[in-house]
Amino acid sequence: MIEIKNLTKRADSKLILRGIDLSIRKGETVAILGPNGAGKSTLLKVLAAIMKPTTGVVKINGLDLKKNILDIKQLLGYLPHSSLLYDHYSPLENLVFFGKMYRVHDVEQRAIRLVNEVGLSFFLNEPVKNFSRGMIQRIAIARAVIHEPEILLLDEPHTGLDQGAIAILNNVIVSMKEKGTTTLMVTHDFKQAAEICDRIIIMKNGTIVDDFYIEEQNLGFVVKKYQQQVEGVS
Ligand SMILES: Nc1ncnc2c1ncn2[C@@H]1O[C@H](COP(=O)(O)OP(=O)(O)OP(=O)(O)O)[C@@H](O)[C@H]1O
Ligand SMILES: [Mg+2]
Repeated sequence: MIEIKNLTKRADSKLILRGIDLSIRKGETVAILGPNGAGKSTLLKVLAAIMKPTTGVVKINGLDLKKNILDIKQLLGYLPHSSLLYDHYSPLENLVFFGKMYRVHDVEQRAIRLVNEVGLSFFLNEPVKNFSRGMIQRIAIARAVIHEPEILLLDEPHTGLDQGAIAILNNVIVSMKEKGTTTLMVTHDFKQAAEICDRIIIMKNGTIVDDFYIEEQNLGFVVKKYQQQVEGVS
């Protein structure tokens, strides 16, 4: 459960987020769409507690982000643009390292299982620095979910993935949803948004300009709404 009230973020003289009000229920899978520079990644960074808001209140599972950063971090899985992986370490070493940070039980077993799930068991002990972009993204996804977070924040997670990896990622998101995980996913990929999300939010110029639920993977409806809100098509 995420509750955001009157959130603003100012950087230098620029207002990047201009009064965001948003409530997301437990178990929802929500896509955030919007043009470059709309403030999508900034919103995710504030929620991931790596950027402080200028004004406003953010509550995650009832905990205030200002007062309970450590407790909240434990609930969050965050996949930013950069992988956060250590180049010279293997997938196993990276995942065990992050897993230990979150005090995951049987961390090695879980790491091995996740590497297997993202289709890279053959590369378990290879240094990540030799990996292709898609391979790195696969391990970055495993890293984001190592501690089975209740809230998943994904910034353009499908970027660089081949068809097989897209299916793996979508499976991860859907199976976590079945366990009650809430997912907030920034994306430019309308097809993936329509396929796995129940709700779509459109951002423009630091505000939310549309917020609606979708049924039966209605891609056409999403495209139409986006054109209306962002491109001014009536
Ligand atoms: N630390 C910062 N200092 C100053 N301006 C910033 C900072 N971070 C982001 N911005 C500005 O805020 C705006 C929103 O950036 P943000 O990265 O949130 O956009 P976005 O919606 O994720 O775009 P994209 O689709 O390109 O990823 C941009 O104009 C950017 O230049
Ligand atoms: Mg972004």
